[in-house]
Amino acid sequence: MPQQTWTVVDDYFDGLLVEEDAALTAATADTLAAGLPAHQVAPNQGKLLHLLARIRGARTILEIGTLGGYSTIWLARALPEGGRLVTLEADERCADVSTANIARAGLTDVVDIRRGKAADLLPGLADGEPFDLVFIDADKPSNPVYLEWALKLTRPGSIIIGDNVVRDGAVVDGDSTDPRVQGVRRFTELIAEHPRLSATALQTVGSKGYDGFVMALVTS
Ligand code: SAH
Ligand code: DHB
Ligand code: MG
Repeated sequence: MPQQTWTVVDDYFDGLLVEEDAALTAATADTLAAGLPAHQVAPNQGKLLHLLARIRGARTILEIGTLGGYSTIWLARALPEGGRLVTLEADERCADVSTANIARAGLTDVVDIRRGKAADLLPGLADGEPFDLVFIDADKPSNPVYLEWALKLTRPGSIIIGDNVVRDGAVVDGDSTDPRVQGVRRFTELIAEHPRLSATALQTVGSKGYDGFVMALVTS
């Protein structure tokens, strides 16, 4: 089944179910206009993150990897009054673009964009309230490190989601020399063997190609 079909089907469902407003459309447009990569989640994936956060009743969300703030906006809009989202971004230009996009969405008071490498910023979150949902979507070789921090920064009932775990099927190649593939494989293995996590993984096709998510529930 070709990419074109996946895109047309995404467009069909998006037209019925996924209401992308002006702030989200502009966030994508300005991310691309700034020359940043088109690595944001698809609209229906953003809505999935939003719904998962609402189903969980998340009051605190951690995102690792902001880009232009597209997934950030979907997630932040799931928060109740008084909720907060912390998002970590290493690239200054991404942090600048996302700051503007989040301001236009009216979410400046809800979203805390922290600048720097996530591995350096994560220890600074340990004193705060635990997070109800963690979305891991930055440099894939660091996913095992991010998982360890996600476990420290969550509580029973929290959800941990990892993006881009399939990469056109490359994930099954244990001999891959791609550090992103190895990062995602180790991440999944660590989740599998962790006694406090119950998880699944889903392959996805759509406007963003062929990829997938891992989702884990912190059980205890
Ligand atoms: N979550 C975004 C997409 C993120 S793309 C969305 O769906 O809209 C991945 C982002 O991770 C990029 O902006 C990249 O600059 C950032 N990143 C890469 N390495 C990082 C690191 N070590 N620490 C923090 N952010 C990093
Ligand atoms: C890449 C990263 C992402 O987070 C994504 O959703 C798609 C692609 C990448 O680094 O290629
Ligand atoms: Mg991603």
